[in-house]
Amino acid sequence: MGSREEMAALKDVLTSSKWGGQPFPGKHASSFAKKFAKTHTVKYAQCVNTGTVAIQAALKAVGVLPGDEVIAPAYTWEGTVGPVLLLGAVPVFVDVDPDTYCLDAKLIEKAITPKTKAILPVHLGMRFADMDEILRIAAKHNLKVIEDCAHAHGGMWKGKGAGSMGDLGAFSFQSSKLITCGEGGAVITNNLEYMEKVQSYINAGRASVTDQFHHRIIGFNYRLGEFQAAVLGPQLDRLSKQSKLRDKNMAYLEKRLKGTPGIGLLKPDPRITRLAPYGYVLKYYSEKVKDIPRAAFVAALQLEGIPCDGLFYEPVYKSSLFPVNPADFPALSWGREKPLDLRSMYSCPESEKAAYSEAVWFMHQMFLGSKKDVDAIADGIHKVLENIEEVRTLDHKAIRNQRLSRADRES
Ligand SMILES: Cc1ncc(COP(=O)(O)O)c(C=O)c1O
Repeated sequence: MGSREEMAALKDVLTSSKWGGQPFPGKHASSFAKKFAKTHTVKYAQCVNTGTVAIQAALKAVGVLPGDEVIAPAYTWEGTVGPVLLLGAVPVFVDVDPDTYCLDAKLIEKAITPKTKAILPVHLGMRFADMDEILRIAAKHNLKVIEDCAHAHGGMWKGKGAGSMGDLGAFSFQSSKLITCGEGGAVITNNLEYMEKVQSYINAGRASVTDQFHHRIIGFNYRLGEFQAAVLGPQLDRLSKQSKLRDKNMAYLEKRLKGTPGIGLLKPDPRITRLAPYGYVLKYYSEKVKDIPRAAFVAALQLEGIPCDGLFYEPVYKSSLFPVNPADFPALSWGREKPLDLRSMYSCPESEKAAYSEAVWFMHQMFLGSKKDVDAIADGIHKVLENIEEVRTLDHKAIRNQRLSRADRES
C-alpha cells in the first residue's frame, strides 16, 4: 500500500501534466535514477519500463549481436533469457551452485565457445552469484558481464552495489520486487558509453542525454512513465531500513530452523555485505521426511496460513513459458544442419533439483513484521513436519497446484 510520500509524488505528476517519459528523462525518473545509482555505487542509472527490457537494453549496450552466445543460469525467471533471444542471440544454460542457487561459476568455462559474448549471472533469491569468479573468467576470456539484479535491490557484495561490478546491472520494479511501481526497471553502469546506448535504445533512437559518443541506433519506446517513477523514490528511501529488518528477521528464522530434520539452509557468504532478499529460500529434503513430496509440504504450510511456493522457477529450458520455435530465432540454425533444440539439449541437475523437489520460497514482505511473525513461520514449519503423515494421502487443490508450474496453476 502506498504511503503519504507516494501520494504526494503521484499528485505532483498528476498536476504537472507531464505524465510520460518525455521530455526525456522525466523529472521523477531522473531524480530517482540519480539516487538509485548512488545506492548501488555506480555513476549512471536509467529507468526503463520493465526488468526484461532492462536486460535487453544492457545486452544491446555491450554489443550482443545475432548469433552471439550469452551464458545464463538455468534456474531463473524466463525473463532473464528472453531478451537474449529477442536480440537474435543464443542463450547457453549453465547449472546453478547448490550452495546459492545462483549461476555456478565453476561450470562457466566449459560453456564458453568462440561465439560467447557475455555472461548473465542472476543474483537469485537471497544470494549473489560468485562475482569474484565471474569477473575473473570474463576478464580472461574477454567477455562482457550483465548482472540480472531483479532480486537484489540495495544488495552489496564486498561493499559494492549489486549491478555495479559487471559492465551493467539490470533491475526490475515489477509488483513482486523489493521496490516496485507495478511494472518498471532500471539499468545501471559506470560506463558512459554504455549508458548513452541504453538511453538511445529505450528512447526511440534519439540522441542520449550527454551524447558524447554519438551512437545512432534504432531504438524503441521503452521509457518509464512518470506515475510509475514517482512511487519509486519514497520506497528507495525506506529500503535500507527495511533491508536491516528483513536481515534480522531472516537470521532469527534460521536460528529457529537450524538442525530441523528435513530442512536445509543456503550457505551464508561473508562476501555479501548487505543482504537484498527478494525471497527467503530454504531447502526441503523429502528423503528425510518420509518421502513426502515438497508439493504436499508446501501446500500444508499454505493451509497453515504461511504463504510460500515450491515450483517458483523451473529450469528455463523445461518451462512451458519457453516454447522456442526455431523459425522465430534464426540464429539457432546458423551453421548447423538442424537448429539447436534448447528444450532438449540441456540437463542441469542442481537446477532441476531446486525446481522440482528442493527449494521453498517465502516472499520478502513476510519479513517486515515482528519477531512474533517470524515465530509463526517457524512454528508452522515445525508443526507441519511433526504431522507430515497427515498429508501423505491428502488430495487437495493446494497440493495439485504445487505440482504445476506457476503459469499452469488453477486460480
Ligand atoms: C530474475 C528475474 N529476471 C528478470 C525479471 C524480469 O523483470 P520484469 O518482470 O520486470 O520484466 C524478473 C522479474 O519478473 C526476475 O525475477
